[in-house]
Amino acid sequence: MSATVLLGTEISARIKQDLATRVNALRSEGTVPGILMIRVGDDPASMSYVRQKDKTAAEIGIVSKVVELAYDTPERTLLALIGHGNEDPLYHGILVQLPLPSHINQKIVANTINPLKDVDCFHPQNVGRLLMGDPYLIPCTPHAVLQILLQANKPSYWPEGKHVVVVGRSNLVGKPLAALLVQKNLYANATMTVCHSGTRNLSHHTAQADILVCAMGSPRSIKPFMIKEDAVVIDVGVTRIEDPSAKGGYRLVGDVDHESIDDDFATIADKAAAYTPVPGGVGPMTVTMLMWNTVKAAEFQRLGAQLGVSA
Ligand code: GUN
Repeated sequence: MSATVLLGTEISARIKQDLATRVNALRSEGTVPGILMIRVGDDPASMSYVRQKDKTAAEIGIVSKVVELAYDTPERTLLALIGHGNEDPLYHGILVQLPLPSHINQKIVANTINPLKDVDCFHPQNVGRLLMGDPYLIPCTPHAVLQILLQANKPSYWPEGKHVVVVGRSNLVGKPLAALLVQKNLYANATMTVCHSGTRNLSHHTAQADILVCAMGSPRSIKPFMIKEDAVVIDVGVTRIEDPSAKGGYRLVGDVDHESIDDDFATIADKAAAYTPVPGGVGPMTVTMLMWNTVKAAEFQRLGAQLGVSA
């Protein structure tokens, strides 16, 4: 049996249509959803991600402003810019693209963004709310993983009652995904295992996963022998590798090795029930979830303004 390919591009297209309808409703009521995106330095991957976010915002009618700062910009300059964004009613969302140069403290940056405009969901207040099962916004990549599982419309892919194993304990993916899927609600209710660089016998754990989420950023390291028959495999890893034959001289590969075979000559595609490709899987969905948060933040802040509560 060959696996179903879960195309983030297709699922995104449907969600973006719904978001565009909500944006139109906001616009007709006099609120134009806006996002401020800040990039520091010229990391090629970050430049490409921010371009993609800017383009997607325009597609659905969100106004975005991209501010590009030099690599050696002092931390206080970045914090002042965020401070202005916090006060500016044109922006319902503020995003600072990671990674940041080492002289800038990422924690201070996350703490400075107004939690109501924190569309990345990095502010400790929003992380805490997620953990307690009362989220305001949901972090984009974990939300992308959840929506891919839900929107396939197959209960066998839903997290409810499943054993979900996530490999990687980053603040961006592994930890918030565990917090999201462990909650007691209809969309989650999974049994969670978080594996990381200190995990002994990784394949023992991955082979027990009904749903395996690979988020290590370690290209092609998940092999067919490491997964269970009929598992759903979600590949969050994206690494640029040099490829002179490719446009731009590089291509993107995920954490899952789609070329190798196990002792029964089976590839991941032969063994899994479904998997996400790289590119075209989680990546585009993550961008769409950022737009989801921006629309939600605009709706919330509009309501707050009507009630006389300032953002
Ligand atoms: N860098 C890689 N992923 C992300 C993300 O989701 N948000 C931000 N701000 N930076 C990133």
